[in-house]
Amino acid sequence: MKHQGKTVIVTGAAQGLGLACAERFHAEGANVLLVDVLAQKVEDHAKRLGERASWWAGDLATISKPMATELVDKAVADFGGLDILVNNAGIIHQAEFVDFPEEIFDRIQRINLKAPFLIGQAAAKVMIAQGRGGSIINMSSINAILAIPNSVAYAVSKGGIKQLTAVMAVSLIRHGIRVNAIGPGTILTELAKTVMANETQRRAVLSRTPIGRCGEPSEVASVASFLASDDASYIVGQTIYPDGGRLILNYTVPVDD
Ligand SMILES: NC(=O)c1ccc[n+]([C@@H]2O[C@H](COP(=O)([O-])OP(=O)(O)OC[C@H]3O[C@@H](n4cnc5c(N)ncnc54)[C@H](O)[C@@H]3O)[C@@H](O)[C@H]2O)c1
Repeated sequence: MKHQGKTVIVTGAAQGLGLACAERFHAEGANVLLVDVLAQKVEDHAKRLGERASWWAGDLATISKPMATELVDKAVADFGGLDILVNNAGIIHQAEFVDFPEEIFDRIQRINLKAPFLIGQAAAKVMIAQGRGGSIINMSSINAILAIPNSVAYAVSKGGIKQLTAVMAVSLIRHGIRVNAIGPGTILTELAKTVMANETQRRAVLSRTPIGRCGEPSEVASVASFLASDDASYIVGQTIYPDGGRLILNYTVPVDD
């Protein structure tokens, strides 16, 4: 029971990587607040997990300081404190650079970057006041480093997450709060389906993935669990990339039919 008695907030917890993280922390003994815009799904998952799980439904595209405080306060009210925050909710949109819609660019920055900033601030204030440290994990991507021509807003938001993580880390470590990020490669979720909508796209992804397969959400949740644990006590401000070898590849690999 690695996280026995700890309280965790996971955003974007209705499905995909967020749900896998919420389930993993819960299985390891933590109290978990599941946050998502998909109200019914997040409620159902929290009820299924049962004791030590609750939910907060809201649209992080409209994130504000009061909203961030409200959701952090919900975890404190339900479970008596806060130890771990996983800023995971995120969206992607694909369009050529010259045609990329301004309003979608703004929406992606609000969900993917501004929400982690404001929820991170609210969570850090509670953790500092508690005086027992904590862990904040921001969900980044290999696209924090790698460019894709048709996903400018996503790549910019994840590049921002890399620096947000670094600044939060150096600001908060004196309070015993470790801030790190996870930068997955292609993991089988609803979001990944949008970038692998057909066989050509699937083969293109696999041709750049030395391990020869996409990742499972549990293979990201395990990294979150590690980063939040004392096993990672000297890891500060890093992005860990569970990507099947994608980032170190400088050429394409053959794909079996
Ligand atoms: N799946 C991948 O291959 C992959 C790779 C790299 C990074 N990521 C990152 O991992 C995170 C999770 O992605 P996923 O693959 O699980 O995607 P997903 O689409 O399966 O899940 C994202 C979750 O975020 C929630 N969400 C979206 N907009 C929201 C909003 N406005 N307010 C509240 N909740 C909102 C969704 O409802 C959903 O439950 C994202 O930040 C994504 O960028 C995913």
